[in-house]
Amino acid sequence: MSRHFFTIDEVKTFIDMMALHNMNRMHWHLTDDQGWRLEIKKYPGLTEIGSKRKETVIGHNSGKYDGIPYGGFYTQDEVRDIIDYAAQRYITIIPEIDLPGHMQAALAAYPHLGCTGGPYEVWTIWGVSDDVLCAGNDDVLTFIDDVLAEVIELFPSEYIHIGGDECPKTRWKECKKCQARAKALGIKGDKKHTTEEYLQSFIINHAEKFLNQHGRQMIGWDETLEGGLAPNATVMSWRGEGGGIEAARQHHDVIMTPNTYLYFDYYQTKDTENEPDAIGGYLPVERVYSYEPMPSALTPEEQKYIKGVQANHWTEYMPTFAQVQYMSLPRWAALAEVQWSQPEKKNYECFLKRLPQLINLYDALGYNYATHVFDVSAEFEANAETSMLDIRMKTIDNAPIHYTLDGSQPTQASPVAGDVVSINQNCTFKAVAIRPNGESRVLSEEVAFSRSTCKPTTANQPVNRQYQFKGITTLTDGLKGNRNYKTGRWIAFYRNDMDVTIDLKEPTEISSLAFTTNVEKGDWTFDVRGVTVEVSDDGKNFTKVFEESYPAMKETDRNGLYDHKITLKPVTTRYVHVVGLSERSIPEWHGGKGNAGFLFVDEITIE
Ligand code: ACM
Ligand code: ZN
Repeated sequence: MSRHFFTIDEVKTFIDMMALHNMNRMHWHLTDDQGWRLEIKKYPGLTEIGSKRKETVIGHNSGKYDGIPYGGFYTQDEVRDIIDYAAQRYITIIPEIDLPGHMQAALAAYPHLGCTGGPYEVWTIWGVSDDVLCAGNDDVLTFIDDVLAEVIELFPSEYIHIGGDECPKTRWKECKKCQARAKALGIKGDKKHTTEEYLQSFIINHAEKFLNQHGRQMIGWDETLEGGLAPNATVMSWRGEGGGIEAARQHHDVIMTPNTYLYFDYYQTKDTENEPDAIGGYLPVERVYSYEPMPSALTPEEQKYIKGVQANHWTEYMPTFAQVQYMSLPRWAALAEVQWSQPEKKNYECFLKRLPQLINLYDALGYNYATHVFDVSAEFEANAETSMLDIRMKTIDNAPIHYTLDGSQPTQASPVAGDVVSINQNCTFKAVAIRPNGESRVLSEEVAFSRSTCKPTTANQPVNRQYQFKGITTLTDGLKGNRNYKTGRWIAFYRNDMDVTIDLKEPTEISSLAFTTNVEKGDWTFDVRGVTVEVSDDGKNFTKVFEESYPAMKETDRNGLYDHKITLKPVTTRYVHVVGLSERSIPEWHGGKGNAGFLFVDEITIE
């Protein structure tokens, strides 16, 4: 809660919401590039200068600014009041001072703590700033000690979070002081870690030593594994569960907060066009509920290091407290059961039956909340046997669902969906749940049928597990994905190619093949590097009818959807084998150079 500022009353309401959901720790992220929110008496500039930015970028770093000065911070007296308020509700506040990265607001006030000396300004855009604390300046170590000393004095929590995430090493690589520090410490990069990663560990170790000497324990984000963990560190695993698994294997305590399940700044619906702006992603209540914090990859002995779970609410796109509530509720209800229920006792259907009662409480308490759980939920399944798209719909309270196929708004007069609605033609499908107190949001899907839609489709190379969703039939289900590659409409290939065989079920004349890729270079997601198409009458002997290769993507190439339409010499065939090559070595200009890239693909249409 640094990117936007919330009043004391709002923070207290947040604590009330936590108490209602049986939560016992509030991790309070008090510092960031875009604002320092905690009074530190020894460094008054942190709040005098660091808590204010001159304006804020509009949307997703659009390049346009609102021109409105923004700021806010908590005095130590106000913090004590909030700590007491939380303690009365059996909630311990764990403060985070994020270091050595995400420090641009502090650098704006104390530029000598940065590698270049500035000048710096409190950041007005979102993202990860390259300007971080200098690892070679002794004043930085003093600064860390001084700030942590006041934090310890203020917060009774046994645990103090020192961040450690997203610290670019750009400045450190160029900085004489940083490099001199590395030399003086005898730090040298090796096969495991770079020089600068070891430097980051030096800083984190310094912070941990200070905390331990004062009887406190340190928590750091999973990047603190890079360069080696501090001896007593607890790790907060956010980039998936991998960091947490590794830390538990190293016998360090872990808090699981994977962005694959518990980033509540992510969207909770695929219908993002009708949502308030969010950072991206897709984490509906059901996905949250399905999270199991004990990784099966760990032995029971190692699982003992998993101490709990946490959901994160980064507030770039939550400018108001009402929006914080909207992103929190009712996902917190699912989180509470993830935290407190034995996995064998968890039951999503049962949870949904109980949820409306909790939502009545939200209404009574005046909490804002998201209503997606009352919408129609639909499973789309390409039925290869009938070559039709089967749609199975439900609502949490079995409210009747009305639907149309012609794009018109469904009403009480539209047909009611039975167990399954099957479709075998192009249409705009719309469905709505109608209750005595009103209508749900309209579910809307464009269904596009081609020769390949809902035909038996097999993968010859595996789909990437993280982005597998419903598997290879996603490519021929008649449903197209949007820009968000996490909705389940896209599947990804990684260190493998899109390599599929489609059985058109009978000899069919074909003359074109098309598919779309979704490119997000910053996420290591690239366009296809080559395509081959082969045809066969028997599914055994194939003849190549198309082959092309494409250059690696350039830094200047746009992100977005890339439509690949291939014209074929008309040929009659039953089986079509398509291969789309993934990027195996990310080009030099990219931070991930030399690694494999992801290939996100949707909807192979054959005509
Ligand atoms: C994080 O989301 N940067 C911890
Ligand atoms: Zn430096």
